[in-house]
Amino acid sequence: MADTKGKGLEGVVAAQTRISDVDGRQGKLLYAGYDIADLAAHASFEETVHLLHHLELPTAAQLEETVATLRAESGLDEPLVGLIGTLAERTGPMTTLRTAVSAAAALDPDDEESAAANLRRAYRLIAKTPQIVATYQRLRTGADAVEPREDLGMAANFLYALTGKEPDPEVARDFDVVLVLYADHTLNASTFAGRVAAATLADMYAAATAAVATLQGPLHGGAIEGVRQMLEEIGSPDRARDWVRARLAAKQKVMGFGHRVYKTWDPRATVLRDIAERLGRRFGDTRWFDISVRVQEAVMEAKTLYPNVDFYTASVYSALGLPPDLYNPLFAAARMAGWTAH
Ligand code: COA
Repeated sequence: MADTKGKGLEGVVAAQTRISDVDGRQGKLLYAGYDIADLAAHASFEETVHLLHHLELPTAAQLEETVATLRAESGLDEPLVGLIGTLAERTGPMTTLRTAVSAAAALDPDDEESAAANLRRAYRLIAKTPQIVATYQRLRTGADAVEPREDLGMAANFLYALTGKEPDPEVARDFDVVLVLYADHTLNASTFAGRVAAATLADMYAAATAAVATLQGPLHGGAIEGVRQMLEEIGSPDRARDWVRARLAAKQKVMGFGHRVYKTWDPRATVLRDIAERLGRRFGDTRWFDISVRVQEAVMEAKTLYPNVDFYTASVYSALGLPPDLYNPLFAAARMAGWTAH
């Protein structure tokens, strides 16, 4: 009998879903039939949340309701803030996030099991996850937690909760686009893990916890921080080519390149490359972007390998001045939209 084993889930029908679809040859990603490039250009994260959960874009009234619901659910209950503070003293942000997502189940006000209750739980998790990340950062640096504001969208509210300062609307929109781009990606490892948990009829929080746990690894969400470490190690654009060649000669991987599905440009990486350049210029530090461009040129010269979603995200987050160990939790904050939809 021929060996039909593929890598990962290749050739395996694990689920059929309309939530998202990837065409790895064409470099296309669709959320409920909508091209990610169009969503990145025109949709907010809140619209994307509605799209992933209802499989159609919201009307103006539905969007208003989604925004209001997510805003109302974004505050963290006191026991959760206390837990985050305790964990922040002794462990990292992904462990804290995983534990906080699990603990949030105990504070969920819904006691019924129904599709409507699960949708409410999903929106609660989506709204709270960025706030858990921001609160962790505030508390570990000795600052007080910041309450989300009534008048800001989710992206702006995260940046506000992190810094205590209202972000420039253009910067908030760039961050909003990053959230849109990371909101879902079919049956990647963390979504698959979440689906396995949900398929046993474990609850929404259990499934979300399994997904966060799976995202933690350096070959999944941890790759963004790996890219940043690489950029630090390279140090300046003129060292990029030699560094890449030595790395490949030693048969080691270059983080932020390659993908199980895309065998061409990841459509998200092209958008993120523009954002990285724009934010670098805005904040007067294009070093991360400049090194990244040279790394990309050197990798593509040596091998047919394209940057994946995580490659330019490292430069985007570096330009925003975000601590590298928050990159993976921010991936989770965006992907919570997709995990819960699945
Ligand atoms: N750096 C160097 N070489 C790489 C590479 C990378 N980042 N990614 C893949 N390759 C190589 C493989 O070693 C393989 O080489 P070979 O043919 O000489 O054996 C070839 O490219 C084809 O690999 P492929 O089968 O397409 O990749 P995969 O499906 O096994 O792995 C990843 C996919 C994502 C796990 C892998 O590309 C990787 O580890 N990338 C770095 C981590 C990362 O950025 N993760 C985030 C993903 S969104």
